[in-house]
Amino acid sequence: MAQITAPKGTQDILPKESGKWQKAERIIRELCAQYGFKEIRTPVFEHTEVFVRGVGETTDVVTKEMYTFEDKGGRSVTLRPEGTAGIVRAFVENGLFNEALPAKYYYLIQCFRYEKPQKGRLREFHQFGLELFGAPDPITDATVISLPARLFKKVGLNNLSLELNSIGCKECRAKYREALIAYFEKDQEKLCPTCRERLEKNPMRILDCKSEICQGVAKDAPLITDYLCTDCHDHFEQVKDYLQIMGIEYQVNPRIVRGLDYYNRTVFEFVSTEIGAQGTVCGGGRYDGMTEQFGGAPQPGIGFAMGMERFMLLLEAAGITLEEERGCDLFLIPMGENAKKEAVRLTGALLDQGAKVQYDLLGRSVKAQMKYADKIKAACTAVLGDSELEEGALTVKNMADGKQEKIALSELNAEWLEEFCK
Ligand code: HAM
Repeated sequence: MAQITAPKGTQDILPKESGKWQKAERIIRELCAQYGFKEIRTPVFEHTEVFVRGVGETTDVVTKEMYTFEDKGGRSVTLRPEGTAGIVRAFVENGLFNEALPAKYYYLIQCFRYEKPQKGRLREFHQFGLELFGAPDPITDATVISLPARLFKKVGLNNLSLELNSIGCKECRAKYREALIAYFEKDQEKLCPTCRERLEKNPMRILDCKSEICQGVAKDAPLITDYLCTDCHDHFEQVKDYLQIMGIEYQVNPRIVRGLDYYNRTVFEFVSTEIGAQGTVCGGGRYDGMTEQFGGAPQPGIGFAMGMERFMLLLEAAGITLEEERGCDLFLIPMGENAKKEAVRLTGALLDQGAKVQYDLLGRSVKAQMKYADKIKAACTAVLGDSELEEGALTVKNMADGKQEKIALSELNAEWLEEFCK
């Protein structure tokens, strides 16, 4: 029969890679715990309306990229293209605004977007993200930004730049919108058909268009930072002050508008030049009042999401290995039926004590088993044959430095192994 392949734009994370992912996820979870963010898990699919309302009707994500289908009950559902909208829905629906505020959530999730696949751009991808509700002060914006900055520093990624902008509030944007329309109307016929539509519905989206011609037209477009009201201007200045106090370098880029509609005031992206065209590793911003779109009372909100595949590509490009080196503490090589039984008993006791221990399942030669132990990155090996059984002791070999030590079976425990395998 013909082979079946994985759908375009998806990828298998095989066991030889999953150790790196687990390590990255562990670092992320620890950092979130340090900051007081707790994990939130929401459904992989939502009513389509969640994303139409949340992400915005005119965004590329909603108009072109969603995996939307009717379920057997005739409801329109969508695989989440991002995490924020579903979390805002959950925040309102579960009355989480009644719990301690600010509420701080993080997530490690799969997302789905029907995009043209390329390096760092998939149809199924993974995000690590944060959402924080109930805190309007600029100290919050800087604190949220500091978490990915600290993550990158912690793993040794030094070449990312933080691009920062403020896209103001409704009032600033209304004035900016007029200025943008006046600017683009002059060259309307040069714009791509999508941008011509955007001109009426959402002219800021034109600044985000990937077409070179549209980018050319947009070159001298007015900048949002020149249209900020006093409050938004002050907010932005304070965010910058806090970032400076934190020692986080940034560049103001007034052209960052973000691809999703829910943002106001602070928006930011961490960008790299080392992983090809898809260099935005992490993006986010403030989305005050988004709870209202889900029938809740207004609450300030802010967050970001980082693409895990892009993060892994960055680590690879920088030669940083997060892999856990050790496949197991001890690989037991039993020779003969009695030895197999003893291996099972001994391994059971060591597993109960918390050690990572495996034994051979295939009855292969010592040489073949040694080779296997090496492949699975066993820290130590020990042959268990008739003579070891008779003596009640075995010789444990440290695979890294070749050091050997004889130990009585009755004395072999997880603590001894931990010490010997270092
Ligand atoms: P976003 O900029 O659409 O924001 O996505 C965040 C990150 O997800 C991107 O910077 C990128 O690393 C990764 N990403 C997006 N699309 C793909 C793809 N097709 N393949 C691989 N990686 C991808 C959001 O999703 C917002 N929800 C972030 C946010 C949270 N804002 C506030 N809170």
